[in-house]
Amino acid sequence: MLVRVLGAGAGGGFPQWNCNCENCKAVRAGAAGFVPRTQSSLAVSSDGKAWVLLNASPDLRQQIADARALQPGPEDQKRASPIRAAVITNGDVDHMAGLINLRELQPFSIYAHRRVLNVLNGNSIFNILNAEAVPRTELELGMSTPLSGDGNDLGLTVEAFDVPGKIALYLEDENAGPDLGTDTGDTVGLKVTDQTSGVSFFYIPGCATVDDRLAQRLKGADLLFFDGTLYEDDEMIRQDLMPKTGARMGHISISGANGSIAAFSPLKVKRKIYVHINNSNPVLDDNSPERQQTEAAGWEVGYDGMEIQI
Ligand code: MLT
Ligand code: MN
Ligand code: ZN
Repeated sequence: MLVRVLGAGAGGGFPQWNCNCENCKAVRAGAAGFVPRTQSSLAVSSDGKAWVLLNASPDLRQQIADARALQPGPEDQKRASPIRAAVITNGDVDHMAGLINLRELQPFSIYAHRRVLNVLNGNSIFNILNAEAVPRTELELGMSTPLSGDGNDLGLTVEAFDVPGKIALYLEDENAGPDLGTDTGDTVGLKVTDQTSGVSFFYIPGCATVDDRLAQRLKGADLLFFDGTLYEDDEMIRQDLMPKTGARMGHISISGANGSIAAFSPLKVKRKIYVHINNSNPVLDDNSPERQQTEAAGWEVGYDGMEIQI
């Protein structure tokens, strides 16, 4: 099974169009130790030929342009794509808006939890994906679903599981109480398994906290891509970017007693990679002390084009 990080950035990407924080300035200036990152998505393939997107970011067009494997081959038919399916983990703009890039009547399948399918079905702009060519299939939590696309079995199964999180920003309901109207299935993690080899990995780009259930599920995993939005809960406030903590946005931070480094240190996950990294995060500077601490704790910082074979 091949996994490719299409975009390791969070919503807005790195640099973000309207952001002049120290990180965004440095990457725009081409400073040493800084590389741009597009918005949050992975691609996975059992055979290296047919690919499944895990989330579809607004940067998908560029991500396809940067990955030969995701483009039609010279011998393919007049209309062709190796992209056969897309699995969506939540309703974030950075995870869903890229579906619009996949219009043009190309057959592929969309998989998501009912809560996310309701958002898709309720937004008529997504009708540009003709339902006959692009079926939408519901993922039941805790069930292993074999993925298919354009009538072919893709050799992969996916299991969605609920993780602590928040409803998408534009769906927040201030009148619904402290959970802002969040319900089960609004944020899921994915376990993707190769049916031939039996190997699997986890993808959790949004997660508010690592509770016991999640810890038990991830214990001893071979490979994990995990929410690396912020290094410190209040970094966006301290940098004068936005008056919101990570906790308020439904994202655990990397550092601190309640952070993901601490949560994962007893769990013996063999390879751990941060994705969905916000532009304010000091780990985006290859030479920062925060980056050193993150790597010393056994984590890798994801980057666009990173490829892993398992
Ligand atoms: C998030 O990950 O919290 C969202 O992508 C934020 C946003 O929509 O800007
Ligand atoms: Mn996001
Ligand atoms: Zn910035």
